[in-house]
Amino acid sequence: MKSAIVILAGLCAATVQAATPADLLTGYHTAAAQQTAGFQPSAQRGAAFHTRNFGVSAKLASCASCHTDNPAQAGRHVVTDKPIKPLAPAANAERLTDPAKVEKWFKRNCTEVVGRECSAAEKADYIAYVTGGR
Ligand code: HEC
Repeated sequence: MKSAIVILAGLCAATVQAATPADLLTGYHTAAAQQTAGFQPSAQRGAAFHTRNFGVSAKLASCASCHTDNPAQAGRHVVTDKPIKPLAPAANAERLTDPAKVEKWFKRNCTEVVGRECSAAEKADYIAYVTGGR
């Protein structure tokens, strides 16, 4: 966790403006591999994570509650009913290009849905999934 933040902070400093989804994936991958030797991101695990009902919040049961089953589709906030643009960079080029924004939303959404912050491994899997490994 700490190392993910260090890597992301480094990423911000190195790129100043924007990162690519691939940069973010590399950052989380590297952090996760430091915790678990040989870790490889898995889009399949990310997909299962996306639709999993964590049983923490009845309304916000899963990531799919707001982002739909398909990250390439526009979602809708299940509480406020506000539209949410697609998460997949293929459908929304702004996605996964701002490490600070990505960290902010991972923190908020993971805390609400999973009941804790997501690990670097979970984030790597999730980005592998959202960036096209369907
Ligand atoms: C309560 C509704 C809701 C749920 C549930 C939810 N999200 Fe989100 N998510 C949002 C909103 C709102 C935004 C930010 C608005 C925007 O950028 O469109 C967002 C943004 C994000 C982003 C930022 C992407 C970017 O680069 O702009 C990521 C990553 C993300 N969510 C992942 C997740 C994950 C992982 C889960 C499940 C653990 C999850 N979300 C569950 C509402 C939700």
